[in-house]
Amino acid sequence: MVEAKIKETNRELASRHWTRGPEHSKPVTMEQSAHHKRGVREPVNAAIKQASELLHAGQPIGLPTETVYGLAGDATNDDAVASIFELKKRPHFNPLIVHVASVEMAQTLVTLSPLALQLADRFWPGPLTMVLPRRPDCPVSLLASAGLDTLAIRIPGHPVAQALLQESGLPLAAPSANISGNISPTTATHVADQLDLPIILDGGPCTVGVESTILRVDESGVVLLRPGGVALEDVESTLGQPVETLTKPDKITAPGQMLSHYAPSKPIRLNAVGLADGEGLLAFGEPLKGAKVVANLSAASNTTEAAANLFAMMHQLDAADCTAIAVMPILTEGLGQAINDRLGRAAAPKDGKP
Ligand code: TXA
Ligand code: MG
Repeated sequence: MVEAKIKETNRELASRHWTRGPEHSKPVTMEQSAHHKRGVREPVNAAIKQASELLHAGQPIGLPTETVYGLAGDATNDDAVASIFELKKRPHFNPLIVHVASVEMAQTLVTLSPLALQLADRFWPGPLTMVLPRRPDCPVSLLASAGLDTLAIRIPGHPVAQALLQESGLPLAAPSANISGNISPTTATHVADQLDLPIILDGGPCTVGVESTILRVDESGVVLLRPGGVALEDVESTLGQPVETLTKPDKITAPGQMLSHYAPSKPIRLNAVGLADGEGLLAFGEPLKGAKVVANLSAASNTTEAAANLFAMMHQLDAADCTAIAVMPILTEGLGQAINDRLGRAAAPKDGKP
């Protein structure tokens, strides 16, 4: 049942989304998956059941979502949450997003104001995270929200994530499944390349390709904490009012907004209008001439297509025969804001200071 539904929804998602490069459009066959890295499994019923059992036993697993792959653990289990931080080598003050199956389940953890319900109705399941007040009886580990009285909550739309949330009945804490400071993974192989996990459910390449948009929603209104897979314009048109953007990160609202966060190992140069010796090119639109290697985010200058390609192409260029990465200017409309945010972090000095 679940498998049939996953196949059907995947087909639907694939037909709805932009055409990608050859690496993205090839379906993963059983044979290929047998040769996959450690832990990678087709998301058949047996694998989902096994993943659920591991979660109940306090073990983290690799989970596909429509934004990026998550390193998921039982959010109510402190040990499981701690092992997520450990595996990611992530500083403990950085709180995690908790994934749930439904609005009803969210309501057992946090309080949703009428404004939050309006946003949930429009954007869930999907690439939106809301930071909301924790209920006094909220069973989620305090470690997951780094001791804050708010909790970041999301209902993912990916059918495999949905299947696992339903099978396990657990709220799942899941940061992106990468070592802190590395590029976020958009395929199961990206996860297997850096994390040693008992199981990584292979849900194919992520269709959105950047992390969820994070909004803080409380009585005083809605504030954008992180641009992502839902365009700010769409949030504003749903609310019928402009949304404030957090400009000066403070320790409570933006503990995870360290500048150098999404970083390939090579130096990155933004808004390139020409190329230096040895540079690879991350193109947008018509590529600059003379690059050693080129990865084009979107030949058609489409920011949705570019977002879906962003992390995979940064990985590609990081592994390619070039010494540095030059990035062409990216439009700021739609998901362009999230893309520029990620690229800005990737280009920031590696010591994490502005
Ligand atoms: O698309 C996504 O959001 C992915 C997938 C796996 O769902 N997850 C993800 O999680 O990007 P992570 O842990 O890499 O980023 C979570 C962000 C961090 O920047 C963190 O600081 C912020 O959410 N956050 C979490 N809880 C918060 C809270 N209570 N208040 C403010 N920010 C919070
Ligand atoms: Mg991350």
